[in-house]
Amino acid sequence: MIILKNEEEIKKIGDSGKIVAEVLAKMKEMAQPGLATIRFDEEARRITKGYGARAAFLDYHGYPSSICVSVNEVVVHGIPSRKQILKEGDIVGLDFGIELHGYVADATISVPVGKVSEKASRLLKTTEESLFMGIAMARRGNRLGDLSSAIQVHAERSGFSIVRDFVGHGVGRQLHEDPMVPNYGKPGTGIKLEVGMVLAIEPMVNEKGYEVEVLNDDWTVVTKDKGLSAHFEHTVAITPTGPMILTAL
Ligand code: MF3
Ligand code: CO
Repeated sequence: MIILKNEEEIKKIGDSGKIVAEVLAKMKEMAQPGLATIRFDEEARRITKGYGARAAFLDYHGYPSSICVSVNEVVVHGIPSRKQILKEGDIVGLDFGIELHGYVADATISVPVGKVSEKASRLLKTTEESLFMGIAMARRGNRLGDLSSAIQVHAERSGFSIVRDFVGHGVGRQLHEDPMVPNYGKPGTGIKLEVGMVLAIEPMVNEKGYEVEVLNDDWTVVTKDKGLSAHFEHTVAITPTGPMILTAL
């Protein structure tokens, strides 16, 4: 069941979204060679606490951290650790969500650590562009497949592949609400988009094949062929005048 949000609720999601954006901006600055990835978790918790907010991922189905940190071939749900140290040339996905006053916002950036390869840099750029292609289609009257297809076409045209096994989602009182928002699909198919829908749109784009597998920790998702993967996400409201990004600064 899709829960439509009124203006007041969208404003609350936006309040959460601003904190998410602030945390991610801080994470981006921190993403330097030599940093242990646990530091992202510590800093994200500190800022979240300062706002009296709740980290939405912590303990979600047992997830052990406040933030997902996904390095290189890790697609999503990487767990920060004391032992994992960032090095020059890595790319790192930082996925974070909070709940404030009952409403959740969820966003992801992927960033380079120092200087990265041409291929890695193109993957980051293409994935972020794909997200914005999807956001541009988040308009009343369009179908979900229009949005999904826009994301897929851009990524594949650039020679990359779209992850199938994980998708975006509605967001509101819960981190994951209906509808599922795939990053692949056909124009003119799927539900009609309506004013009041709030969607977490989150393309995961792989350098090589789209197949993924889950490691023994039951969380970390990696590419099967060990190619790089990038991930960008915004929480977006569909308003009478078009898409409104709720996780921007
Ligand atoms: N942005 C991710 C998602 O929508 C974050 C969830 S991680 C989890 O699925 F640990 F909370 F599951
Ligand atoms: Co999400």
